[in-house]
Amino acid sequence: MSKITIDTDTSRATPKPKPGKRMTAPAIMARKQDGKVDEPLVMLTAYTMRMAQLLDAHCDMLLVGDSLGQVIYGLDSTIPVSLEMMCAHGAAVVRGSWHAMIIVDMPFGSYEASPQQAFESASRIMKETGCAAVKLEGGEAMAETVRFLTSRGIPVMGHVGLTPQAVNMLGGYRARGRDDAEEDKILADARAVAQAGAFAIVVEGVMEEIASAVAKASPVPVIGIGASKDCDGQVLVTEDMLGLFERTPRFVKVYHDLADQISGAVATYADEVRGRRFPTAAQTYRRKG
Ligand code: KIV
Repeated sequence: MSKITIDTDTSRATPKPKPGKRMTAPAIMARKQDGKVDEPLVMLTAYTMRMAQLLDAHCDMLLVGDSLGQVIYGLDSTIPVSLEMMCAHGAAVVRGSWHAMIIVDMPFGSYEASPQQAFESASRIMKETGCAAVKLEGGEAMAETVRFLTSRGIPVMGHVGLTPQAVNMLGGYRARGRDDAEEDKILADARAVAQAGAFAIVVEGVMEEIASAVAKASPVPVIGIGASKDCDGQVLVTEDMLGLFERTPRFVKVYHDLADQISGAVATYADEVRGRRFPTAAQTYRRKG
């Protein structure tokens, strides 16, 4: 874990994190030797500067996930998320971090048409945010694109299994790999993406045995979400694990009830404002003398 502490002396909006050495794609890949990692990789989502500051020292990777569509923008799915949204949030997360590798999701419609379209979108994301890699969903169908990007200097994280951008094809967000055909497909997808040059692969929402098999077979780290403890690392949506939502998927462990704490603090504030007990002298400017 990083020992760096943040210096927010200057301003809340422009903190000056002391420079540190960021994690890189080769450093993440090097964590898996002879088919296993000594210590699992830690990844969480981040969409804002402040959350990035709070998570950075604890995480190897921060993912600016297109789940921000639901978590930040209240959308029904990740389908409407735009490149502009990903660039704005990606840049904020890069500004708030100095240790973790920052990976930004490529939104639906920004990469599927052709490798060239993917390069245009990925290079824009990297120029506008300063992130170190992009993530895209899909397996065999995206292998050519992954090869195109990685051979042109863009590190790519793959994403197989339950791929939320394909919700309309999948018919929902149910865990994948319930029959042999689905299992074979997930294994083939992970293999194709790894062979195409991905530096790591997210495997989401699959039966545990399949996730274990993917992690065992993959030469690059496999990061699980709703997958298996045998994966080479884990990722969760931060707002889910902090308890900001009433409903979370079964695979989420809620580590804290932040929603309750926020509600309590805001109720106290509202009560004090209405009762004229806030602000007090301590929060009020007065002329000296
Ligand atoms: O968008 C996202 O947050 C993700 C993770 C759930 C892996 O892709």
